[in-house]
Amino acid sequence: MRAIAVHRGESQPRLREVPRPDPGPGEVLVRTLRVGIDGTDHEVIAGSHGGFPEGESYQILGHEAVGVVAEANGTDLAEGQLVVPTVRRPPGGGSNEYFDRGEPDMAPAGAYVERGIAGAHGYMSEFFTSAPRFLVSVPASLAKTGFLVEPISNTEKALEMAYASRSTFEWSPETAFVLGNGSLGLLSLALVGQGEFERTYCLGRRSRPDPTIDIIERLGATYVDSRETPVSEVTTAHEQMDFVCEATGYARHAFETIDALAPGGVGTLLGIPSDWTFEIDGGRLHRALVLENKALVGSVNSYVPQFERATDTLADYPDWLTDAIITDVFDPAETDVVFETGDEHIKTVVEFGTR
Ligand code: NAP
Ligand code: BGC
Ligand code: ZN
Repeated sequence: MRAIAVHRGESQPRLREVPRPDPGPGEVLVRTLRVGIDGTDHEVIAGSHGGFPEGESYQILGHEAVGVVAEANGTDLAEGQLVVPTVRRPPGGGSNEYFDRGEPDMAPAGAYVERGIAGAHGYMSEFFTSAPRFLVSVPASLAKTGFLVEPISNTEKALEMAYASRSTFEWSPETAFVLGNGSLGLLSLALVGQGEFERTYCLGRRSRPDPTIDIIERLGATYVDSRETPVSEVTTAHEQMDFVCEATGYARHAFETIDALAPGGVGTLLGIPSDWTFEIDGGRLHRALVLENKALVGSVNSYVPQFERATDTLADYPDWLTDAIITDVFDPAETDVVFETGDEHIKTVVEFGTR
C-alpha cells in the first residue's frame, strides 16, 4: 500500500510502498480517508521534534486522521464505522499506569510513543491498524473534517487545565487572546469563541489581505499584529486578557503572556519551540505571577474524553469555517507539493479515500 514517510538522512518526505498491516489479535484495520498536517509534522520532518520508530529507516507521518473500520476482526466496532485515532501508544505494546488510568497524555517521556511523531508509524497510509480503545467513533457527517478532532482535542485539554487552575476562586473570564494564526491557533480561536468569553483576540504577524485575518474577523475576534503590538503590550493597546492560549511555538511568547494576563488570569502554552537563549526580566515576571495570582500551564496531547468533546465542538463549527481552514486537499501522488508552506496554506490534507 502507499504511505508517505520521512526517511533517515533525507529532508523531504516521499511516497513509498509499505506492506499493508495485518491487525493483530484485538486490533481493527482502518481504511484511511483523510490525514491533516500541522506545525508538528514540519518539526518532525526538520528533525527538531519526535523521532523514528526503533530500528526503522523511515517513519510514516501523520497523526491527525479520520478513517473507516475495514476489518472489525472480532472486536465490538462495526465495519463501516467512521473513526478518529488518538496519538499516544504504550512503548513496545502492552500497557503502563498512564494508559491504564486513561491518561496517556500525562505520561512522561519514555512511557509513550506518538504515532507519526515519536517512535511509531503514523496514519499517512492507505490503511492502519489500532486497538479499538484508541479509536473514537465519530458521526458519518465528519468524513471530510474528522481529522480536525485531534488538534481541537489538544485545545479542549488546554482549556480544561486552564479552568482547573482557576477553580479555587470565582473566575469569570471575559477576554481571551489566542497567540498564533496557524491551523491550531484558528481552531483554538473558534473553540474559545464558543465559550463564555465576551471578547476574543488573535495574534499573527501578517498584513491584510490574508486568509487567516479574514477568518479571525469573521469569527468576531480582533486581529493583533505582533509587529505593531507585541504580546507584552496588548494590555495597553487593547485590554488585559483573562485567558491566553499560546499556539505559535515562539518561545518569547511564553513569558510575554505573563504581561498580557489580567490579575488572576491563566495562560496555556501549546507551542513546541526549539532551544533558544534570550534575555527576559525573570524577577519582574516571577513577581507578577505571584503577586497577581497568575498561572502559566503547559499542555500536550489529549485522550478519549477530549476527543469526544472535540467531536461535538467540530460538529458545531459552521461549514464556512472548516471550508476556510482546509485550504488544500492533495492526492498521495502529489507528495512533492504536500508539505509546501506559505500564507495561502492553512490546513493541508492528504486524501486517501472518500468514504
Ligand atoms: P503553524 O501552522 O506553524 O502555526 C504557527 C503560527 O504562529 C503561524 O501562523 C505563524 O505565523 C505564527 N507565529 C509564529 N511566530 C509568531 C510571532 N512572533 N508573532 C505572531 N505570529 C507568530 O503551527 P500549528 O500547527 O498551528 O501549531 C502551533 C504550535 O503548536 C507548533 O509548535 C506545534 O508543534 C504545536 N502543537 C502543540 C500541540 C500540543 O498538544 N501541545 C498540539 C498541536 C500543535 P506565520 O504563518 O505568518 O509565520
Ligand atoms: C500533537 C499531539 C502531540 C504533540 C507533541 C501535537 O502536534 O497533535 O498529539 O502530543 O504534537 O508531539
Ligand atoms: Zn498535532
